[in-house]
Amino acid sequence: MAHPMIKATSFFILVLLSLSACYYDNKEDLYIILSSGECDTVAVNYTQTVQPLLDAQCVSCHQAGNSSGNVLLDSYASAKQYAENGRLMGSVKHESGYSSMPPGGSLSDCDIAKLEAWVAAGSPEN
Ligand code: HEC
Repeated sequence: MAHPMIKATSFFILVLLSLSACYYDNKEDLYIILSSGECDTVAVNYTQTVQPLLDAQCVSCHQAGNSSGNVLLDSYASAKQYAENGRLMGSVKHESGYSSMPPGGSLSDCDIAKLEAWVAAGSPEN
């Protein structure tokens, strides 16, 4: 039979272990909340935000040689044109009167917010 003191100590260690398990669970939850709240719409520019986003999500269908719907998004000038005529935001925000883009899916809320911030700033070439 184990000495009562050893029993008490092992119980204490078990409690500590389960507490630390809870602590890690909470830390992960917190991390998910923090990271989903992180959408930087301030440090938005064409070169580092808009162009990579369009390249990844749109340009495969909207470039010279494959300009779906006759829409080009593979250069600053063409992106600005669709920013200014409202079709860029109309399509990614799935507004009525526009074809929803990308077809069959949607950009993340954060990506939409970034595009919107760039358009609201006058779609600068920066
Ligand atoms: C898989 C191919 C494909 C991808 C990816 C794609 N598009 Fe399109 N897009 C099309 C096709 C096809 C059309 C023309 C037919 C139509 O309007 O549905 C079109 C039309 C458009 C139009 C004109 C819509 C209108 O109603 O005036 C805009 C603007 C546009 N796309 C922007 C985008 C943007 C921005 C992205 C990326 C977020 C994107 N597209 C991704 C295929 C694509």
